[in-house]
Amino acid sequence: MARILVAYASKKGSTTEIAQVIGKELLVNHIVDVEELGAVTSLDGYNAIVIGGPMYMGKMVGDVGKFVRRHYNEMKKLPVAGFIVSLAPVSKDPAQMASAQKALHAALDPLHPVVETIFGGKVDPAKLSRFQNWITKKVKTPVGDFRDWTAIAMWARELPLYLGV
Ligand SMILES: Cc1cc2nc3c(=O)[nH]c(=O)nc-3n(C[C@H](O)[C@H](O)[C@H](O)COP(=O)(O)O)c2cc1C
Repeated sequence: MARILVAYASKKGSTTEIAQVIGKELLVNHIVDVEELGAVTSLDGYNAIVIGGPMYMGKMVGDVGKFVRRHYNEMKKLPVAGFIVSLAPVSKDPAQMASAQKALHAALDPLHPVVETIFGGKVDPAKLSRFQNWITKKVKTPVGDFRDWTAIAMWARELPLYLGV
């Protein structure tokens, strides 16, 4: 049975829950580990990697790029799927979708994922710092939970096909 690592970054927990749902779906036919990026020391024994994280202030969180640079030699030999969590799907604005896609590509560079997607995220003012609440109000960030669990589960179920595992 193939082993898949779902590695993620998250600041406020919404990406953690997305990664866990992806892992649960993959578990049906695979051995799966769901790990925060910082907890991953080696990619030995994995047949494929799913990597994801949220977008903050126009960029994917820095941990993703750092992880790719640290593990590039191992990752370049494996099929990689990437996802970014952002508010672009909420706005349905093509420019925002393009900017989320660009942020994902920049973080994964020079890796090319075999499949990638953008998921809607969650903004909970109770979890934000004063500064974050100020900035999100100022730029009129939508508040709420915009994660589409059906779309997340469907993407996860199709992953093995793309990853060839
Ligand atoms: C301070 C702040 C800045 C954000 N900046 C962006 C952004 O530039 N683009 C975007 O699409 N979403 C942005 N978001 C939305 C996050 O991507 C979303 O809340 C995501 O679900 C957070 O993931 P996490 O809970 O795993 O940290 C921002 C959210 C906060 C709180």
